Amino acid sequence: MRIGVVGTGYVGLVSGTCFAEFGIDVVCVDKDAGKIDRLKAGEIPIYEPGLDDLVAKQVAAGRLSFTTDLAQAVRGSDAVFIAVGTPPRKDDGHADLSYVYQAARDIGAHMTGYTVVVTKSTVPVGTAREIEKILRQVCPNGEFDVCSNPEFLREGAAITDFLRPDRVVLGATSDRAIEVLRALYRPLYLNETPIAVTTPETAEIIKYASNAFLATKISFINEIANLCEKAGANVQDVARAMGLDGRIGAKFLHAGPGYGGSCFPKDTLALAQTGRDFGAPQRIVEAVIQVNADRQRAMAEKIIAACGGSVKDLKIGVLGVAFKPNTDDVRDAPSLVVLPALQAAGAKIHAFDPAAMDTAAPLLPGIVWCKDAYEAANGTDALVILTEWNEFRALNLDRIGESMSQKRLIDLRNIYKIPEMRGRGFHYVSIGRPEVEGDRKSVRKAS
Ligand code: UDX
Repeated sequence: MRIGVVGTGYVGLVSGTCFAEFGIDVVCVDKDAGKIDRLKAGEIPIYEPGLDDLVAKQVAAGRLSFTTDLAQAVRGSDAVFIAVGTPPRKDDGHADLSYVYQAARDIGAHMTGYTVVVTKSTVPVGTAREIEKILRQVCPNGEFDVCSNPEFLREGAAITDFLRPDRVVLGATSDRAIEVLRALYRPLYLNETPIAVTTPETAEIIKYASNAFLATKISFINEIANLCEKAGANVQDVARAMGLDGRIGAKFLHAGPGYGGSCFPKDTLALAQTGRDFGAPQRIVEAVIQVNADRQRAMAEKIIAACGGSVKDLKIGVLGVAFKPNTDDVRDAPSLVVLPALQAAGAKIHAFDPAAMDTAAPLLPGIVWCKDAYEAANGTDALVILTEWNEFRALNLDRIGESMSQKRLIDLRNIYKIPEMRGRGFHYVSIGRPEVEGDRKSVRKAS
């Protein structure tokens, strides 16, 4: 079988490469000639563990190719996937579908024979029908169907999530289209991955509802963490015991500085907007958005409070600026709110991130970027853990403490255990757990 994939960003490149891994011939197309040239040269424009090797393997096998010529990706393809961006519109949070609709027009102009046009990008309910109209206009006698096949890929785990998904969702306008998509996903089918077959509208809502529900779990546990801090409880123990209930599930109950990334913020906004558009307000999602926005700002206040109420002229170390580990992505990351707030309060920030410093630097002026966690901690009055990279879980805390002006650690990802921090004499502040007063005489280094 042969497919075209329009858009070689995060979703398109991973999806195209994984379909090639399934043994399908894949042509990935993008308008950005520079990106296509880099892909042809074996350079991967996104940070996704394992993607470079998988792309190289598929290209070497002759199943994966890159082009700027959309006709080449459409002609003779059984299916063409639309995997272009759907960024939130600045004014109202609506998903900007201009790239999706342009791709549909371009595809319609080049279809030869029966083609399934598939939306892989996250698009508001009704988009598949809109694409159907566009295709009919552009190709009145064309033989085609439209299918919504949303992705559930997490950055940093995208290949695993594609090759071993919990489920595949297919929302199509005909059984013929479903059969084509089932054939494309056959390797998964063989290991009994559930395939949910439905209408396009239902599939489009499944995607938004799934992401918004995950974001809801996060904002929920973050508010419970606030209560735990006031009541002297431990949010990790709360989350653990909650998660033992099969109806709740243990995942996405880690309290932290708020969610970021290229999906949750965008998809919750779009879903709230869709609710308003259809007269079915999504008030819980609206609250989730507000809680998350307030929280990122509140984290700066928490750090300032931990420093005795002022960070003026203090040197603060920050570990992690990516919105989560194993990515260089800083879109809507808490760091983009927290660090400027600390700078505005007079702090000097020294930061380190294993992968995201190049992407973050243009967005965070005035930060001193360091080569590792120890350099970022050296001479600081406080050290903040903002992203739970694995390498921050095994720091030499004695060395860190010795190098600091004040042994104060603010752990916004609850990486460390309270007894350990107590034993090492840190003033330790974390999320939804009791504060640990350091041994006073060691908190301020002997001058
Ligand atoms: C998410 C969805 O998981 C994925 O299915 C969808 O296709 C795209 O959006 P992603 O945004 O890549 O994936 O990252 P994810 O791992 O879901 O984390 C999103 C944010 O939530 C991150 O900022 C993370 O730090 C935060 N998070 C996640 C928490 O604060 N607590 C948690 O328990 C889990």
